[in-house]
Amino acid sequence: EFAASWQRAAAGEELDREDIVNLLAAAPGEEEEALYRLADGVRARMAGDEVHLRGVIEFSNYCRRRCCYCGLRADNARLHRYRLMPEDIVAVARQGVELGYGTIVLQSGEDPWYTAPVLAGIVREIKKMGVAVTLCVGERPREEYALWREAGADRYLLKHETANEELYARLHPGMSWQERLQCLQWLRELGYQVGSGNIIGLPGQTLADLADDLLLLRQLDVEMAGLGPFIPHPATPLAGEPAGSLELTYRVVATARLVIPFAHLPATTAVGTLAPNGRQKALQRGANVIMPNLTPTRYRADYQIYPNKICINEGPEDCRYCLEGMVRALGRRLGRGPGHTLKPIPA
Ligand code: SAM
Ligand code: SF4
Ligand code: FES
Repeated sequence: EFAASWQRAAAGEELDREDIVNLLAAAPGEEEEALYRLADGVRARMAGDEVHLRGVIEFSNYCRRRCCYCGLRADNARLHRYRLMPEDIVAVARQGVELGYGTIVLQSGEDPWYTAPVLAGIVREIKKMGVAVTLCVGERPREEYALWREAGADRYLLKHETANEELYARLHPGMSWQERLQCLQWLRELGYQVGSGNIIGLPGQTLADLADDLLLLRQLDVEMAGLGPFIPHPATPLAGEPAGSLELTYRVVATARLVIPFAHLPATTAVGTLAPNGRQKALQRGANVIMPNLTPTRYRADYQIYPNKICINEGPEDCRYCLEGMVRALGRRLGRGPGHTLKPIPA
């Protein structure tokens, strides 16, 4: 079964749900190696050898949501909460631009302290520096997304987390899968380059669910997909659950490269957290992006969405030079410019 689906992928045929499950079920050894070789080839053809770095500023760990997997959830009273002031966010972004990053990603918990006009002002200041700006601040009303787009925001990252609506409901008390998709639809209509993605290895999740994740990403026609393993956090309801499998994560990333060949696929921080060479391996199995941390060191430990997150004691420059070395050692090169969508006809 794997062989037939692999052949179809190699021939560039459109993969259906069964094909995707077959690829995700690749056996260790020859099947996995064949999948990874194919994905790396498609990555080279579609995305080239450039690895784009997106500097991420985790500017607030306040969150009004209660996602069952996340250490920032509102119920986690043990967490020390912090907010960077707008002028400090802009200053950190400037540091990122000086380090050569072509994209600045502004990420936070869902924190209404940052009203739409406040965030728009920050976006406007960073856009003056000539870089792309990605927002990743959760669900907001359409008018707010529109205001930020007018302020110059280029991209928005909102993971669908899981395409299994029932599993979504269980893991996101008070939230709705339909509303999540509505937000993604709005972002598309407003002309954002859209990033979505899902968590791999959630309790109760099946290979068929993961196939549905990739089919949803294809349907959404995403410009980017963040695909990272579940890592249990001790201060959450999922504390006792096992982490997502690293090998399964690689298979999902590789298969994603075949299903959505034009998407930017990051080698995630979560993969780097589960294995010291995790990001390198992901880059050799379909990924073409890394999202280095730009957050000032003193805040990093408090943005632990999961435990043992890497780079907690490093500073922005450390990550910059660490990653340049990593990319070079793989025989690849750092991306230049903003690293916009890879689609043949940009949206
Ligand atoms: N609050 C915004 C949101 O949820 O879209 C953005 C920040 S949130 C921390 C970014 C991502 O972290 C989420 O989309 C989720 O997939 C991921 N995440 C949170 N907790 C995680 C965990 N324990 N393991 C793996 N990924 C996790
Ligand atoms: Fe908040 Fe995002 Fe964590 Fe959910 S995943 S609790 S929205 S920071
Ligand atoms: Fe932060 Fe390597 S990416 S030290």
